[in-house]
Amino acid sequence: MSQPTNPSTQTPASDTEPAPWWRRGVVYQVYVRSFADGNGDGTGDIAGLRSRIPYLAALGIDAIWINPWYRSPLADGGYDVADYRAIESRYGTIEEAEALLAEAKQAGIRVIVDLVPNHTSEEHAWFVEALAAEPGSAARARYHIRPGKGPGGAEPPTDWTSVFGGPAWSRLPDGEWYLHLFDSSQPDLNWDNPEVQAEFLDIFTFWLDRGADGFRIDVAHGMVKDMAFPDLGASTDALLGGATIDDHPFWDRDGLHEIVRGWRSLLDRYDDRMMVAEAWVASAERLARYLRPDEYHQSFNFDFLGTDWDAAEFRRIVTEAVAEAANVGSTPTWVLSNHDVVRHPTRYGLPNGTDWRTWLLDGPHDILEADLGARRGRAANLMMLALPGSSYLYMGDELGLPEVWDLPLDVLDDPVWERSGHKAKGRDGCRVPLPWQREGSSLGFGDGDAWLPQPAEWSGLSVEAQTGDPDSTLELHRRALSVRRTELVDNETIEWVDAPATVLAFERPTGSDGTNGSIQCWVNMGDEPIELPAFTELLVASDPDQDDDTLAPNAAVWLR
Ligand code: NOJ
Repeated sequence: MSQPTNPSTQTPASDTEPAPWWRRGVVYQVYVRSFADGNGDGTGDIAGLRSRIPYLAALGIDAIWINPWYRSPLADGGYDVADYRAIESRYGTIEEAEALLAEAKQAGIRVIVDLVPNHTSEEHAWFVEALAAEPGSAARARYHIRPGKGPGGAEPPTDWTSVFGGPAWSRLPDGEWYLHLFDSSQPDLNWDNPEVQAEFLDIFTFWLDRGADGFRIDVAHGMVKDMAFPDLGASTDALLGGATIDDHPFWDRDGLHEIVRGWRSLLDRYDDRMMVAEAWVASAERLARYLRPDEYHQSFNFDFLGTDWDAAEFRRIVTEAVAEAANVGSTPTWVLSNHDVVRHPTRYGLPNGTDWRTWLLDGPHDILEADLGARRGRAANLMMLALPGSSYLYMGDELGLPEVWDLPLDVLDDPVWERSGHKAKGRDGCRVPLPWQREGSSLGFGDGDAWLPQPAEWSGLSVEAQTGDPDSTLELHRRALSVRRTELVDNETIEWVDAPATVLAFERPTGSDGTNGSIQCWVNMGDEPIELPAFTELLVASDPDQDDDTLAPNAAVWLR
């Protein structure tokens, strides 16, 4: 063994008191629009999700995170909220949402809802009111609405650009400008305004009282702006790249932590509710600030998601994340795919170092080795599910779904496509509706065509096709989640095991005090097969042809 990163001090559980569910839970992300369509209109909905609760329960996950389901024009897939207390009619009704919360609870599944505090939709009552109000009015002060610069105020107040491309300011008919870090239909709220702060406490309470177990907080690193509005002199591509400028005027500002503490003290008045931050920040140390005991319970580790297929890099990032989380008494939170990034089986089929965002449109597409990526994707999921802490699976990860990188341009819906002037293809390729059955117009997603077309070969990746096939990716996940649940959640300890440089090997004790034995996870990220150590039981293997002696390249095993 080498380099113990023993985080025993971060484990609050004692023999008598189990750890809170979120510390070690597996959360399954449901992009509701693309999960299951209950009414055959081509768009996923709450009815579809409710009908699939038995599937989720049998999969063995602990919680679901539902992407925004609030009333919305869906200009940005629902991250443009028109009413935080109402359900989008294409998804269902508030009664159906309440029924879903109750049914999930009965099935032993917690529900995390997605809150979007940085911006509203332009259709939100507040923005409609702001547009009708005078410059300088209280209605305008809920947003960042300001006069422009230069003669006649014809230039935007700052040089900031939108994450989705183009300027971050749009002009109103009366000459003032409003800030939108994302699409022009998503005006940024002014978090310096006490009315905004109070409104969100009330929205939290609304969903807490309806039984939401947790909140995923959108753009958690962006709410607070430098009210002096300085120019930046750089473009805003930092959402997905980490905010690397010190004292950045809108990313990762110190002031936002005070707001988070207010939310946390509200949540703490309820039992075992949680918040997970979507915070894209520059370093593990900056991320840990969101995880202090009176702030978020979790924050996604996007460094882990962004890592190439490279054992040394994974080892560095895991070591750092475990240590930083332990410093603040929190737990690492792993994720490999979500609704914003190229699905990882496709990322891992590209040569290390490929910029997968630009590759989507620009190619060259013949560098993709899809089978290799699929193999690595399975191994990566086994690696993630063996790590201490919490893991997030994106819907379809359990089926090994790849990115649909070749969606026809005329079906693209992501605002990134238009705002980038057709230079970036956007995120639709990871949002293609799930295949549930081998046959049918949308492979069992719904009764009609799906809102985005599914590739024909997804018939073979459908839940129906994979169920009962012991070699399938779905059965691999069912097995891994079951072993994890019974063996890997008693503690949060990890120790690295000596292994060749291109191999990641770590050990996890299986009891709360380490006396029950241990499980080792081995992942071969090199090009050559390696010899496995002696073991008593091969618990899970990513490679259907796994034997007892060697681990092939791009494969992973869990050994007792
Ligand atoms: C992050 C969300 O995950 C993404 O889908 C959305 O476009 C932006 N935040 C803006 O809300």
